Amino acid sequence: MTGVQATSSQTVTALAPAKLNLSLHILGKRADGYHDLLTLFQSVDLCDQICFSFSHAQQNHLDLRIEGSSAYPDFPLDNSNIINKAAALFWHSQANLAPKKITATISKNIPIGAGLAGGSANGAATLVALNQHFGHPLAKDDLLELAAQLGSDVPFSLTGGTCLGKGRGEQLEKIPIEPGVTFVLVKPIGLSVSTAWAYDAFDRSARHNGREIQGLLNHYGDLKSQLLDKNVGGVAQLLVNDFESVVFEHQPVLKKIQANLLKLGCLSAHMTGSGPTMYGLAANAQHAKQILSQMEPVKNHATGFAIDGVLVNAWLANSINHGIKVVEDDEKP
Ligand code: C5P
Repeated sequence: MTGVQATSSQTVTALAPAKLNLSLHILGKRADGYHDLLTLFQSVDLCDQICFSFSHAQQNHLDLRIEGSSAYPDFPLDNSNIINKAAALFWHSQANLAPKKITATISKNIPIGAGLAGGSANGAATLVALNQHFGHPLAKDDLLELAAQLGSDVPFSLTGGTCLGKGRGEQLEKIPIEPGVTFVLVKPIGLSVSTAWAYDAFDRSARHNGREIQGLLNHYGDLKSQLLDKNVGGVAQLLVNDFESVVFEHQPVLKKIQANLLKLGCLSAHMTGSGPTMYGLAANAQHAKQILSQMEPVKNHATGFAIDGVLVNAWLANSINHGIKVVEDDEKP
């Protein structure tokens, strides 16, 4: 066998956190078809966990498995999965690695097609795990470049914490604040929204025509100041999601959920990304528990609730200040 042998572990386990867009403004469509954004990203402690185990092989191959597979009929296990795409991208960037078979086993907790960037987190975790296994051939900036090729949210998934996002979401400015904010997340069961459709619908609505960019930059400057001042109430006043105007028209249930979260006492309630997950900002952890306890639980369903007759999953999530985290690394020779 030719090539450089990996010097590090045979298994790497990575935690892949979900993200919220606490605020999101669409500035306009670019020549490459993407949209320029201003957004406030936040990682939360709702995480997928992926265990990567590496063995010698004649050629590179990644075999993807999912725990409790029957619960995730929509989760592809072939090369269309972002985990396989991330591994292929990593291998393509590295000419001299010894070929490996990787078995990636995912324990999925982030709902699919929910606006929580579960796929992006999985892709970012794959880049980090392979880089770790092969002895860090890629520096952080190179990893971020590969991440941006995989998807607009993947660089944030890798970086994590609280960040202002610009460009198509890949230009990040980390805001150094402590974790400790609790959110109530609500997702209607069985509902998902296509991100590409939502951008298209926003373009057709022509709502971003004549936008005053400097005003929006100032808005995010104010948001950053309120965050650094730990003024949760001040932050709550400044949160907006441009997608709501078009997505709520097609899914009025989401507007109802927003009204319900506010009625229950959330300081602010918005959709994350292009939805359909809604988040409610609570004053603190106790407040968040109290808000959740006022929802009508569905029998025999741990996270199931009814809001105005609509079945939803609802759960609490806390802000965290990291992105992909390697949690277990067997040091085998
Ligand atoms: O980058 P990603 O693959 O996650 O994007 C999915 C789709 O969302 C893109 O094909 C594009 O239609 C849209 N998108 C966009 N502008 C962004 C991010 C995504 O138009 N900033």
